[in-house]
Amino acid sequence: MAVSSSCRWLAASAATLIFLAPALAQDTSNTTITVQNTTVAVDASTLAPAAVTVSNTTTGDGTPLTAAETVQLTDEVIANLTDIALANASLFAFDDGDASTLDKRSGSCKVFPGDAAWPSTFVWWVFDLLLGGNLITTVPLAASCYNDFGDYSASECTSVDDNWTNSTIHMSDPTSVMWPLYQGRTCMPTSYATYENCTLGGYPSYVVNVSTVSQIQLAVNFARNANIRLVVKNTGHDFNGKSAGAGALSIWTHHLKDITVIPNYVSKNYTGQAVKMGAGVQAFEIYAAAKAGGFSVVGGEGRTVGVAGGFLAGGGHSPLSSLYGMAADQVLAIDVVTPDGRFVTATPELNTDLFWALRGGGGSTFGVVTSVTSKTKPKMQVTTAQFSFATSTNVTADIFWAGVRAYFNYFIDNTDAGTYAYFSVFTTGTDSYSFNMAPFWAPNLTLAETQTLLAPWFADLADLGISVSPVYGHYDNFYDAWWAVFPLETVGSTSLKTASRLFPKSNWANDTSLNATFSAIKSTVLAGGSLLAFNIAAAPAAGYPDNAVNPAWRETCLHAILALGFDGTANSTTVASSISVLTTDWMQQWRDVSPTAGAYMSEADISEPNFQQAFYGTNYARLYALKQQFDPKSLFYAPTGVGSEEWYITGQVDYLPTQDGRLCRV
Ligand SMILES: Cc1cc2nc3c(=O)[nH]c(=O)nc-3n(C[C@H](O)[C@H](O)[C@H](O)COP(=O)(O)OP(=O)(O)OC[C@H]3O[C@@H](n4cnc5c(N)ncnc54)[C@H](O)[C@@H]3O)c2cc1C
Ligand SMILES: *[C@@H]1O[C@H](CO)[C@@H](O)[C@H](O)[C@H]1NC(C)=O
Ligand SMILES: *[C@@H]1O[C@H](CO)[C@@H](O)[C@H](O)[C@H]1NC(C)=O
Ligand SMILES: *[C@@H]1O[C@H](CO)[C@@H](O)[C@H](O)[C@H]1NC(C)=O
Ligand SMILES: *[C@@H]1O[C@H](CO)[C@@H](O)[C@H](O)[C@H]1NC(C)=O
Ligand SMILES: *[C@@H]1O[C@H](CO)[C@@H](O)[C@H](O)[C@H]1NC(C)=O
Ligand SMILES: *[C@@H]1O[C@H](CO)[C@@H](O)[C@H](O)[C@H]1NC(C)=O
Ligand SMILES: *[C@@H]1O[C@H](CO)[C@@H](O)[C@H](O)[C@H]1NC(C)=O
Ligand SMILES: *[C@@H]1O[C@H](CO)[C@@H](O)[C@H](O)[C@H]1NC(C)=O
Ligand SMILES: *[C@@H]1O[C@H](CO)[C@@H](O)[C@H](O)[C@H]1NC(C)=O
Ligand SMILES: *[C@@H]1O[C@H](CO)[C@@H](O)[C@H](O)[C@H]1NC(C)=O
Ligand SMILES: *[C@@H]1O[C@H](CO)[C@@H](O)[C@H](O)[C@H]1NC(C)=O
Ligand SMILES: *[C@@H]1O[C@H](CO)[C@@H](O)[C@H](O)[C@H]1NC(C)=O
Repeated sequence: MAVSSSCRWLAASAATLIFLAPALAQDTSNTTITVQNTTVAVDASTLAPAAVTVSNTTTGDGTPLTAAETVQLTDEVIANLTDIALANASLFAFDDGDASTLDKRSGSCKVFPGDAAWPSTFVWWVFDLLLGGNLITTVPLAASCYNDFGDYSASECTSVDDNWTNSTIHMSDPTSVMWPLYQGRTCMPTSYATYENCTLGGYPSYVVNVSTVSQIQLAVNFARNANIRLVVKNTGHDFNGKSAGAGALSIWTHHLKDITVIPNYVSKNYTGQAVKMGAGVQAFEIYAAAKAGGFSVVGGEGRTVGVAGGFLAGGGHSPLSSLYGMAADQVLAIDVVTPDGRFVTATPELNTDLFWALRGGGGSTFGVVTSVTSKTKPKMQVTTAQFSFATSTNVTADIFWAGVRAYFNYFIDNTDAGTYAYFSVFTTGTDSYSFNMAPFWAPNLTLAETQTLLAPWFADLADLGISVSPVYGHYDNFYDAWWAVFPLETVGSTSLKTASRLFPKSNWANDTSLNATFSAIKSTVLAGGSLLAFNIAAAPAAGYPDNAVNPAWRETCLHAILALGFDGTANSTTVASSISVLTTDWMQQWRDVSPTAGAYMSEADISEPNFQQAFYGTNYARLYALKQQFDPKSLFYAPTGVGSEEWYITGQVDYLPTQDGRLCRV
């Protein structure tokens, strides 16, 4: 926010000063406010960024604070704000523990723009000053395609339009999300929709571009005290709009990029190399650091997905999961700003409940993670294989499906060998299908070992008359293999909806249950769905810690995603009607063959029935109790998050729950 004007306080009484928008301020007080750049002088005192640089540069577990973490908000800083008679300084104060003023009645909503209780422009402006000028007023990414924000630009609009499916433009934008369906398909670039106006839709009103922990603390305190919806955005990858929210203040963690290798982390549970990373670190960054440092890290497949944000909070599956488990299983310590505004460290010995919940209990639920310290893994060789097959004059649909069915016989052997595979099955025409392996990923295996592992399935394919021509790669480190075989993710679609299931290994117990599983999957592809699936396990022989990761992950050997396409330019009711087929019909076939299993919250259907069981399993009761304990004022909300059943968003259509309404209590 640009600060250029000067203004004065309006005295309500000798002791109390009330903020007013600069335009309304009247000179009835002797208190003089002088504005210079980003500082405000109140008489002789200066209203500067509210923060101190702490002298203790280690966290509770002895790891060095990241640069962002050395700058904190303390009681003394808050006391100084009060001392300089900063009106409503209590808006920025830590939680006083008094929940008696909370309106918990059904239908009571978070304060929304336009409400009498919405902070005045002047309050936002003072907030900006306390943040050191890091408050951003939202301008949607594609605003240049419209006149509403006063920045119409045909060339800029073309650039946004052309790059819309490229995740980089969304991750570097303060508010854009990669699945626009849930921000309400508002302000889309011209190829996707032609609206008369560019509206904020489900985008937040303001964003704090965070570079210090003090800014996160101020934002948490301000949103809590002003009863404003709070959202956290890291990269915006979330499948279900969890990093969007109308009328919200958003905390944007993208620039928290520190990566520090700790050569010898020592704790009761673990001694060895670790890496500490800021909340904004992305896959391509941690993998590059790991290559340079001669180690490996358990991160995601997508190039630009965050590592320490929503990915880890949801559990985090990785090309190394069959070997080492989930990303959340590697965590040694988490630094976090809790809903009361305090900055704490959670480890197996400190804040243990929080530590448990933050590893798998979901993003934007228990606080804002500022950094994560995780175990590193040894540098390792990786073998990759890419191949495909399809129906043709010689390969009938039946033969094609027999080839895919044959693959299913090897899922458990393959994950037992530590491998991971990302494959798809698409319909390409009437009775025409294609299978694409992109890629088969064999960490810690030689080329020969990988070929031996694939040989039985390839023999089955040959017997069926299906020929494949695998392209193998062999690399001496994770990064080079990953970069070679996982392309930049394509995002931004408004005509695709996904749902998913973690099929349990018990479905592989015999031919009857495996055939039923396969039939259910095949049936949904025949009905028009596209299958994007991972042959993956997350229960390594070496064990895994007790954390909040969905227990369904420990049972699975197949994380399958089903996608439904529809006309993205249709109205919400029509789109919702199309989507309902995915949720109620297709996915029900998958649920019917895996009734006690679950789904991966980070790549699931926002309308998943009984999401508490599906996304959290037996952990839900404990997570819910911890949510009440750590966030009694319900500051944090995320769709399908723990405790989200107590909230709704106004104006939603069933099967297309968007973030462009008010957040209210059920
Ligand atoms: C193309 C693509 C590829 C993917 N690949 C993988 C994969 O290989 N493995 C896998 O497990 N998942 C994968 N995902 C899913 C991914 O894990 C989720 O989208 C995840 O939510 C992304 O987290 P983020 O922080 O990058 O994104 P965001 O959308 O910014 O955040 C997601 C959620 O986490 C919250 N959050 C973010 N940062 C913080 C923080 N610091 N503190 C508290 N809450 C926070 C947000 O509020 C939001 O609720 C992929 C997704 C896409 C679109
Ligand atoms: C404002 O300052 C003037 C001059 O110093 C003084 O006479 C007056 O009492 C002050 N008013 C208030 C409300 O403090
Ligand atoms: C800050 O204010 C001073 C004095 O008015 C001015 O000289 C300087 O250029 C300003 N700096 C910025 C970054 O605006
Ligand atoms: C300060 O550092 C020590 C380790 O030197 C650590 O034990 C302690 O918890 C730290 N204090 C705070 C407030 O982080
Ligand atoms: C509080 O204000 C006093 C007096 O201006 C100053 O010396 C001190 O450094 C301030 N403390 C903090 C934490 O800002
Ligand atoms: C994508 O964005 C970049 C940066 O804005 C721009 O230079 C480029 O032209 C855009 N690409 C296309 C295809 O428009
Ligand atoms: C995505 O955008 C980035 C940044 O502009 C660019 O470097 C990259 O080549 C683009 N990728 C694709 C696949 O368009
Ligand atoms: C677009 O904005 C104009 C000017 O504010 C308004 O008159 C018009 O009704 C808006 N159109 C839609 C579709 O909301
Ligand atoms: C299809 O089968 C015929 C007869 O067996 C054979 O001659 C031909 O090469 C096959 N085509 C392909 C693409 O495999
Ligand atoms: C990697 O391979 C080596 C050599 O076969 C083996 O000793 C080691 O246990 C493997 N690592 C894992 C995690 O399986
Ligand atoms: C096959 O496995 C399923 C699931 O484990 C089990 O319920 C069923 O009894 C088994 N059926 C046969 C014929 O073994
Ligand atoms: C499972 O399916 C295969 C091939 O589709 C079939 O040959 C086999 O008889 C089936 N087994 C059972 C127990 O249904
Ligand atoms: C730490 O070790 C204890 C026993 O040694 C185990 O019960 C606990 O689950 C471990 N915690 C983590 C986070 O690994």
